[in-house]
Parts: sequence; structure tokens; C-alpha cells
Amino acid sequence: MILLDGKATSQIIKDSIKNELDSFISNGLRKPHLVAILVGEDGASRTYVDSKERNSIALGFNSTVLRLPDSTSQEELIKIIKSYNVNPEIDGLLVQSPLPKHINESLITQTIAPEKDVDGFHDINMGKLAKGDEGFVSATPLGVMMMLEAYGIETKGKHCVVVGRSNIVGRPMSLLMSSNRKFGNSTVTICHSQTINIESYTLQADILIAALGKPGFITADMVKPGAVVIDVGITRIEDSSRKSGFYLKGDVDFQSVSEKASYITPVPGGVGLMTIAALLSNTFKAYKNNLNLW
Ligand code: GUN
Repeated sequence: MILLDGKATSQIIKDSIKNELDSFISNGLRKPHLVAILVGEDGASRTYVDSKERNSIALGFNSTVLRLPDSTSQEELIKIIKSYNVNPEIDGLLVQSPLPKHINESLITQTIAPEKDVDGFHDINMGKLAKGDEGFVSATPLGVMMMLEAYGIETKGKHCVVVGRSNIVGRPMSLLMSSNRKFGNSTVTICHSQTINIESYTLQADILIAALGKPGFITADMVKPGAVVIDVGITRIEDSSRKSGFYLKGDVDFQSVSEKASYITPVPGGVGLMTIAALLSNTFKAYKNNLNLW
């Protein structure tokens, strides 16, 4: 079994962005600028946004995090997004999900200018992905693709089973794996909460991608020997013996599945770190589009 190392792989991607950016900066260009908007006090969201900020700054990007109170109205948020949309110095813009109940998340997603939508959630970017056109792809599935590529994992003609159909991960993941690209061209099955006899599908997977948000759901008896197993789950499990008060658990029962898999991602240290690298890569792409640097 080979461990798919998110720390090392994401670092290679970040180093490559930094190298290219350094040459732009030494030619007198401005830095890329990512804006993240956080509404409310959700603990996990705060951690994610902090990490996006820390990583952006480490790469030499400008980072703005707008922390808004839970009471922010939908109208106020839309007004703020529109002001960033027309600001030529801002390359990437994201609104951290989940949002408070009184805000229509779908409407917010559609308010972000598609050319700054580094999360790839806008209908235009989702539509481009569905058609195989160039746009922004959601960071977690993009990070998984970068991981498969980094390890040279053959995907062409393989059976990829994606468990989970969310708009953020499962659905774009299935589109990427079936698309006509070097590390795509898989035959894809999507399983979800209504799938009957789910293990009959997961057992056929050459590449199994678990993105359902149920800790430890995928057990060894559901996995074909030699499968590549990608664990997208990162559920916080309460644990008072830890300083943070929790630990992270994936959707895959790592202990048992790692004995059967050919490759497997750990949690933490796997896909989560790739998500950040993919977001930075999307932001750098938005910057290069914005300044015509291709
Ligand atoms: N919440 C969970 N994942 C994501 C993500 O990739 N982007 C944003 N904006 N919010 C999220």
C-alpha cells in the first residue's frame, strides 16, 4: 500500500505556483488577491478560512478575509460581493459555506462574477465542467485530480465509483473522472444515500472516492483488493482528551481498508491539504486571466 501524501504533494504544487509568481513580481507586477467572506461563527468554517488566508500569504498572495456577523442580511452580502466583482485588483472571491439560514446560498453563489469564482460553484463554471470546457473547478475534486496526476495513477478505462453526489464534491468529481483528459476517461458510477446494496458497486471500483460525510462508512469488505481509495471525508469527532476538543475522521475506515488498497489517502494529511493547493491554483489562474499572463 502506498500512502497518497497530501502534505508533500500540495507543497510541490504550492512551490511551483510560488516560483512562477516570483518571476511575475520581479517583473513589477502586482500580487494575486483572494477575498474570502465568512458570515457567522461556525467553528469549522473559521478554521478553513484561516487556513486559506495563511496559505495565500505564504505564497505571496494578498489575502482579505471579511468576517461578517451572523446578523448580516442577504442584501448587505450581495452588495459587498458586487463591489468586489467590479474591483479590478481582486482576482478571486469566495463565500465560505454554510451560510446562516436566512441567506439563500444558491443566490449568493450566482452573484459572484464567474471569472472570480475560484470555488467553481457558479452555474456557468459548473456548466463548463459538465461540457468539458475550460472554467473554474471546485477545489476539492480538483485537488483529488492533482493527487492522481502527481502519483501517475492510471485512470483511463478504469471503473471509478464516487460515493456522494454533493455539488461541491461528488458531482463535479464524477464529471472530472469521466471527462476526456489525461487523468480522466474513467467509467464512472455515482452512489448516494438512496443506492440499494451500495457495496455491490464499491466492490467493483478500481478507484473509490468517498465523499459522503459519514465517518468510517467505507469498510474493508466494501473494497476490491488493489483499489485506489480516496477519502474526502473530514468529520470532526468530539474528544475531550485533545486540546482542540476534537479529532478528524474520514469516510473510510483507514485501519482495515489500508490493508486492501494499493493507494490510499490518510485523514488528516490527504485530500484536505490538496483542496487548499487547488484553491490557490484557481486563484493564480484567475490572476493570470485577469492580467493576461498566459
Ligand atoms: N464549505 C465546505 N467546502 C467549501 C468550499 O470548498 N468552499 C467554500 N466556499 N465553502 C465550503
